[in-house]
Amino acid sequence: MDTFVIEGGRRLFGRVRINGSKNAALPLLAAALLTDQPVTFRDIPNLADVRNMLRLLAQLGCTRTDRPAGSDGGADADGLDVIQGGVVGLQSTDETLSHARYEIVRTMRASICTLGPMLARRGNARVSMPGGCAIGDRPVDLHLRGLAALGAHITLDGGDIIAKAPIGGLVGTTMFLGGTFGSTVLGTANVMSAATLAKGTTIIESAACEPEIVDLANLLNAMGAKVSGAGSPRITIQGVRELGGADHTVIPDRIEAGTFIMAAAITNGDLTLDNCPLDALLAATSTLGAAGVHVQPLAPLASVVSGAAPARQRTPSLTVTGSSGPGPGANGSRLASADDPMRRTVRVTCDRTLRPVEVTTQPHPGFPTDLQAQLVALLTLADGNSVVTERIFPDRFLHVAELLRMGAKIIRQGSTIVISGTKTLVGAPVMASDLRASAGLVLAGMAAEGTTIVNRVYHLDRGYERMEERLRSLGASIQRVDEKELAGSEAASA
Ligand code: EPZ
Repeated sequence: MDTFVIEGGRRLFGRVRINGSKNAALPLLAAALLTDQPVTFRDIPNLADVRNMLRLLAQLGCTRTDRPAGSDGGADADGLDVIQGGVVGLQSTDETLSHARYEIVRTMRASICTLGPMLARRGNARVSMPGGCAIGDRPVDLHLRGLAALGAHITLDGGDIIAKAPIGGLVGTTMFLGGTFGSTVLGTANVMSAATLAKGTTIIESAACEPEIVDLANLLNAMGAKVSGAGSPRITIQGVRELGGADHTVIPDRIEAGTFIMAAAITNGDLTLDNCPLDALLAATSTLGAAGVHVQPLAPLASVVSGAAPARQRTPSLTVTGSSGPGPGANGSRLASADDPMRRTVRVTCDRTLRPVEVTTQPHPGFPTDLQAQLVALLTLADGNSVVTERIFPDRFLHVAELLRMGAKIIRQGSTIVISGTKTLVGAPVMASDLRASAGLVLAGMAAEGTTIVNRVYHLDRGYERMEERLRSLGASIQRVDEKELAGSEAASA
């Protein structure tokens, strides 16, 4: 297992490109199951979760259209999970394979997004019921309720969800999809995808408004679906007989962007982010602005990647670090337009003294739960008391105990924590427990005095591509080390 060794106290400077969004990519890839035509995806991040989704889709009868037949790509035996240049082409060629097995589902809850597309196109699906995870119970009752409202017959057998469409296929209806904690992102993705092939009109009330849902609706419409209202709580889908192929570029990752913004802030650095989905980050930038972190839009990415950046924007000492993907320029027609609010270039700076804030995580457009741990790390160094309430996953505070080991002052009561800012954090060995908690600990380590060892960084690798390389190129001192090697070198020096 890999570990990060971080020497804190280095300010981050430079330029980094934000990669395609993991949480947009997962349901988008699953939508390839809605057609037998090829679908091409661009700016797909090369992440463990995405590779797992590609393995799953291969098991569900999808072949890769972007790779030579029989290519092993030098990775998996079948090469079906290889992502090169951010491009993935998928074609559903064997529609008899409809069983998403536990072995893959247990590694990645987002496997549930294959349920709606398979049910709608193939008339049946068997998907292992995802369990809970480090951030909470994570039920899927709303997914099942929504699909049942479209007429699906759903049963459970041996830990699998078995869904069957009625004879003649799914039927559109009006449904309320809200739950105790508000809307559901992947539940909305599942039901919206399934409804594209249902007979008649479906209205989803209390739909998730996340930008990843808008991105999925855009892909579905490019495939021939009739979806309107995505991005609002009411989505209307007029069913069509069949969907075709499409060519789609994934939106940039708002959580990765927010993490880099806070990395700049916690190290008192100065970063320029290209391909930043500023429009999807308003709650975060507003909260961070109140804390003394400034995110200023500059000129659009297109002028930068084309190599013709205006001199006033290009700081010669800045280096561009980014995805292994093609960059939007490689996608020809898909360069950012001057006013695309989802692909801005922004500069991040911050005041010397951070101010405390009060924040509650909420469904979009509220402050995202996926940035809560990173914000908590930042607020440990603010000048005063901050209050953070977690409304989406009330137990998502596994980073708190680890931050305490680094000298943070935090008390928790239920789903609320109070952070009393301190002047310094002190490096320590800490344990990453989930993806975003890991990101929070990496940020804390970069700001702390001395050495921080973040164990189990495979969690981080699920959602951030080559994070340590990108941070290092911005000035951080951060090394990836095998846990056993580290233990060996410590024993040798003892
Ligand atoms: C998505 O998970 C994201 N995952 C999560 O990101 C993110 O934290 C979450 O949305 C909230 O924004 C992906 O997109 C792959 P939900 P999802 O259904 O869709 C409750 C990360 O770090 N609920 O919107 O599974 C649920 O328990 C990950 O990248 C039900 O009660 O989350 C929660 O309290 C972690 N019944 C709330 O709704 C259901 O059937 C929102 O969950 C479904 C959800």
